[in-house]
Amino acid sequence: MIKTKLTEMLGIKYPIIQAGMGPHNTTNLAAAVASAGGLGLISSIGMGYLAFMDKPLFGFTEKTPREQMLRSIETVKNMTKKTGGVFGINVPVAVEFQSISKELIEAGLEARETDEEVRRRMKVVVTSAGNPEPFVESIKESGAYHFHVCPSPYHAKKVEGFGTDVVIASGHEGGGHVAHEPVHTMVLLPEVVRTVKIPVVAAGGICDGATLAAALALGAVGVQMGTRFIATKESDFHQPYKNYVVNTKDVRDTVLAKGLFGKIRYMKNPAAIRLWKAEQEGASETELFNLEMAGFAAIDKGDIENSAMAGGEVAGRISDIPTVKELMEQIVKEAEDIIRNRLPKLIV
Ligand SMILES: Cc1cc2nc3c(=O)[nH]c(=O)nc-3n(C[C@H](O)[C@H](O)[C@H](O)COP(=O)(O)O)c2cc1C
Repeated sequence: MIKTKLTEMLGIKYPIIQAGMGPHNTTNLAAAVASAGGLGLISSIGMGYLAFMDKPLFGFTEKTPREQMLRSIETVKNMTKKTGGVFGINVPVAVEFQSISKELIEAGLEARETDEEVRRRMKVVVTSAGNPEPFVESIKESGAYHFHVCPSPYHAKKVEGFGTDVVIASGHEGGGHVAHEPVHTMVLLPEVVRTVKIPVVAAGGICDGATLAAALALGAVGVQMGTRFIATKESDFHQPYKNYVVNTKDVRDTVLAKGLFGKIRYMKNPAAIRLWKAEQEGASETELFNLEMAGFAAIDKGDIENSAMAGGEVAGRISDIPTVKELMEQIVKEAEDIIRNRLPKLIV
């Protein structure tokens, strides 16, 4: 067992968070991670996109972000009833998304307020991609923990001042949205740990026991993984997307392209290269947005060539599709072995 401030504050078995991965639906995945002893997160960008799309993608069924958020929370609650798993919601708070962020966070807090079981087990609201200040007070008042994803010590210090409980330091090698300044986990994490007094979780490039042990050595209380969790049996991602992670063999096989809230790291394929090229050639915001939406719609059709598939550099290190439980057990066992057996032998 690895016991950290994160496992203690949330009452979870493993210091592992499954990252929010909008616009995808992560309902099944969040339930599987929560049931296996980590913190599972419901992703919400795709719920926000309901406002822009003709028809919902990724298995969303409801018409408005609020209704979808309530539905997803209810689903995860029911799927984790037996295990009593702990879960949360991830809501990006970028300026481009702010009115939708408000609707989504309020829906999450409404579910906590009206349902005792949700209040007990949906313990965390994770914000990202913007300034969470307008939301911290209401999240904390509801009794939930507030976590915020930060790409720099500067942002971490700022949110510590707002009363945020945990900072997730997210390195530039990670999949999905990344900051403009390319600071990677190895440099970012210890510097964020040095800068703030609140607990820090590491994200970006984590996929196995060695990277978990490294994050703990650098001062983290746990890790958040995105790309690694895509390639699991229970993840809601389509099979071709999971296979694409496994078939990505080189850690250089990602590309950065403009997305709705800034740069997104995609696994390299014709659609991602098209997005990258369009930006280089000066495409307008609307053209880029339409290309991005077309890339998401292609995922839903299983059209891999035209799919815009976010994924981290670590895709090049992932070669299997285990169950969530197998994955988390394996990662923690390997980290324990490194900490208990392999590293102490280096001391002479
Ligand atoms: C497909 C995909 C979608 C993502 N969408 C979101 C999101 O909606 N909200 C968010 O905070 N982070 C998002 N991220 C970033 C992750 O939360 C996480 O920080 C990142 O995946 C960590 O790096 P890793 O991919 O190397 O594990 C996304 C990542 C991926 C791979």
